[in-house]
Amino acid sequence: MSEQKANIGVVGMAVMGSNLARNLAHHGYTVAIYNRTFAKTQQVLADHGDEGNFIGSETVEGFVQSIEHPRSIILMVKAGAATDATIAELLPHLEQGDIIMDGGNSFFRDTIRREKEIADKGFHFVGTGISGGEYGALTGPSIMPGGTPESYQILGPMLEAISAHVGDEPCCAWMGPNGAGHFVKMIHNGIEYSDMQVIGEAYELLRAAGIGTDEAAEIFAKWNEGELSSYLIEITADMLSQKDPQTGAPLVEVIKDRAGMKGTGTWTVMTALELGVPVNGIAESVFARALSSHDDLRAAATNLAGPDRVLQVPDKAAFVEDVRQALWASKVVAYSQGFDEIRTGGVEFGWNINVADCAKIWRDGCIIRAKLLENIRQEYSADAGLVSLMAAPSIAPKLAEYNDAWRRVVAAAVQAGVAAPVFASSLAYYDMARAPRNNAAVTQGLRDYFGSHTYERVDAPGHYHLDWSGDRSESKTSDN
Ligand code: 6PG
Repeated sequence: MSEQKANIGVVGMAVMGSNLARNLAHHGYTVAIYNRTFAKTQQVLADHGDEGNFIGSETVEGFVQSIEHPRSIILMVKAGAATDATIAELLPHLEQGDIIMDGGNSFFRDTIRREKEIADKGFHFVGTGISGGEYGALTGPSIMPGGTPESYQILGPMLEAISAHVGDEPCCAWMGPNGAGHFVKMIHNGIEYSDMQVIGEAYELLRAAGIGTDEAAEIFAKWNEGELSSYLIEITADMLSQKDPQTGAPLVEVIKDRAGMKGTGTWTVMTALELGVPVNGIAESVFARALSSHDDLRAAATNLAGPDRVLQVPDKAAFVEDVRQALWASKVVAYSQGFDEIRTGGVEFGWNINVADCAKIWRDGCIIRAKLLENIRQEYSADAGLVSLMAAPSIAPKLAEYNDAWRRVVAAAVQAGVAAPVFASSLAYYDMARAPRNNAAVTQGLRDYFGSHTYERVDAPGHYHLDWSGDRSESKTSDN
């Protein structure tokens, strides 16, 4: 008697895992499913078993045996120790050429380690970023796989089929070897942090100018019709218009002002620091969440003096337009920083990441999907070596046009005592990057003064040291 085997398996039947399994089944694949607690697997079968072909197993061995060889097995378990534990459980049952794909938000350095350990045993390990939340997993996420090109040959068609599409282009592409997929997803999340923080800053400024929450919701809805059009702006409008079921007040005013985080934004900044890539806006977004949750600090600072966060705005419509332009400019800077980190990391780790492909697969399905990403894709397609998105032919003129508004908004925020860390730091980044000469000569002079760290001269090659504590003569310490 021949038994039907599954095309692919999914481990982990929490919402993301079960939704991804259902998505695969909806696309005609026979899907093996497994969860540590069998009751959860049974629940998925009971609730959704009629949506496609599923094979539920109670044991890992039974699960692995139910999948056709070479096996494709997707892990949708908690990042960290649970991922390692699940891999250890699976390994004894695998055969040469089988593929384990980790679809969680794993740190890319863990993925590099796991890939090496698993490749040494003759299996493939594919660290894959998946974005789009629970709903996206079911209806079409953006998928960022790493791993070997051979494994993409097998997994790619299935992942592309279940991903979101723009026209007939799937929002899924191979990002590069080992940790490249999770690296790109990590930076996607860093940008996600910035995107949300600038939205929060814009909202707070509108409120400071006397605009009510309902009106702010309408403003965001309107912005979503133009060049700011994006998933996050769209759901901001919806979220702001929601009333608290208990009090009838705008829900946003009832939600405690502390934002949590699970780590991907922090990793983006940590990695940027290691790579020497300035991602100020993303870093400010991570720190803003940290400050929001730092109860002791906030309690200690409540009596500090400063303006009362009220903005006198003579022309409301003009101010709203200024905030819109400042939001667009700050958002572009965050993307510019994130793409700089992808480009630099891609070179540093030897992954040769196609930056245009990242923009391409983020156009739909993922949390940061936005109209702007088509524009960004075109810029990186035209110039794969584009160093700064800010300087791209279609972006720089717009930043020039929005410059005055951006500065007015940052100045107004500072004057009124409204914290707008990403608006302000993005502008500082822009100004530092465009300055023909910045303030670093002072730092370098001081480094040489107290630590003989040497300096370079504007008029000759080489490194130099000044005898600061002696006769102040200059010596050349190296020719380059
Ligand atoms: C996505 C999201 C998703 C999740 C993050 C949020 O792309 O679908 O980024 O991965 O919402 O874990 O991260 P924080 O909990 O750190 O905000």
